[in-house]
Amino acid sequence: TVELNPVLLPLDWLLGTWESDEPGEGCFPTIKPFHYSETLNFSHVGQPVINFMFNAFHAESKKPMHRECGFIRMQPGTNRVAFIMAQNSGLVEIEEGELTGQQLNLQSQAVARISFAREPHVQQISRVFQLRPDGRLEQTVSMATDSQALMQHLHITYRRAS
Ligand code: HEM
Repeated sequence: TVELNPVLLPLDWLLGTWESDEPGEGCFPTIKPFHYSETLNFSHVGQPVINFMFNAFHAESKKPMHRECGFIRMQPGTNRVAFIMAQNSGLVEIEEGELTGQQLNLQSQAVARISFAREPHVQQISRVFQLRPDGRLEQTVSMATDSQALMQHLHITYRRAS
């Protein structure tokens, strides 16, 4: 095993694999509320970069659904964090924000998509990751689209799997 790059020490609590412990909740004003499960993996290879994969599944059928992967960087000597991410829907984004204790508050700085992405197009994303005192990880995602102001889309909690 490679030693964690010291730049990433403030994020060491994220590393490993996380599995949703109860179904995540999806909502948005324009869709039917839904449930899902999700596995997160955060790893590193000694670089000052965390590699991540988020794989979501249908709560009942277990069919693969939304997937995201990318990289996390920290500006050395600060609490500034950047996520560089790609989604299977054809969306790519940069999210930046701050680490406060074991809470990450991120806002999209750039959003782009493939020319034939489904509508409505996402205009803005904000998300919060938080390690709770009970050891569970929580993720909340809000988004704005062409037709809707910033509103919650996802809420889910995870238990450490490894
Ligand atoms: C719908 C974006 C993550 C499941 C949507 C819509 C958008 C969107 C733009 C259409 C909303 C509308 O019609 O007004 C995103 C973004 C995500 C994300 C930006 C991540 C940052 C997820 C995840 C799941 C999921 C993790 C888990 C399975 C769904 C479902 C719908 C939906 C089931 C409604 C049916 C459909 O349009 O396919 N999402 N989504 N999404 N999303 Fe997400």
